[in-house]
Amino acid sequence: MASHRFDPTFTDKVVSAMGDKTEPRFKQLMTSLIRHVHDFARENELTIDEWMAGVQLMNWAGQMSDAKRNEGQLVCDVIGLESLVDEITFKLAEEATDAPTATAILGPFFRADTPFRSNGETVVRTIPKDGRGEIAFMSGKVVNYVTKAPLVNASVEVWQASTNGLYEQQDPEQEEFNLRGKFRTDAEGKYSFYCLRPTPYPVPDDGPAGKLLKMMDRHPFRPAHIHIIATCDGYKPLTTQIFDRKDPYLTNDSVFAVKDSLIVDFVERKNDPQARIELTYDVRLVPDGAKTSGV
Ligand code: BEZ
Ligand code: FE
Repeated sequence: MASHRFDPTFTDKVVSAMGDKTEPRFKQLMTSLIRHVHDFARENELTIDEWMAGVQLMNWAGQMSDAKRNEGQLVCDVIGLESLVDEITFKLAEEATDAPTATAILGPFFRADTPFRSNGETVVRTIPKDGRGEIAFMSGKVVNYVTKAPLVNASVEVWQASTNGLYEQQDPEQEEFNLRGKFRTDAEGKYSFYCLRPTPYPVPDDGPAGKLLKMMDRHPFRPAHIHIIATCDGYKPLTTQIFDRKDPYLTNDSVFAVKDSLIVDFVERKNDPQARIELTYDVRLVPDGAKTSGV
């Protein structure tokens, strides 16, 4: 017996319209999606105007998206979907006894064509004009999370927003690839570079994601963070972000990506004219095929 007062056969009819040649995983996902979406509409007695507002929001997100802006992903982010998928992915890898570096969402501002730079170089190619750019030295090792052996020739890619809250592809005032770089670990598994102490910024809120946030009475800010992708032959690639412990938005990230183990401390750096603060951060990668658990 259906627990609602609408046509009790309708959802089954839509689900069973899928043919035998539908790929099994796709069939599973579509069956579940159709059931949840229909339940959502029935439970809330969705009106035509409300449904059409959702359709228009999706269309708006599509029209706003291009090679430099992924508004569909941003809409998912502000309702926590990318962070939830990230949590699921990490949980599925969670079984063994030790802790690899936790994952966090990629976000929409990754650029696949970021250049390699040499260890010790700076990613700060455009100095922020607002005087808020605090240079930090970041360094560490990439290691096998089980054996702790350093990984030689691993790649550590980083990107961060400038102090005006914009990534370089959003801001014509910043040099191309400003605040981005890829680094190769040396014979001791070490990487190093200069960057900015990250600062909090609002996710773009001039589109459908911003409209959703306003309607949910939420702010658009993300806590200060640096994005990292670490890869090494024979290891699972890691996508993550590290967050400044001093940031006021740590407990209410607009896209729900903060994990305790990814919170880091910048400390004073002595005897370096280029930077007065530093961050040491080791990345722990999981060997291909290993079962893992992480924090
Ligand atoms: C980011 O950290 O770059 C980001 C993540 C999700 C939505 C918007 C921005
Ligand atoms: Fe970011």
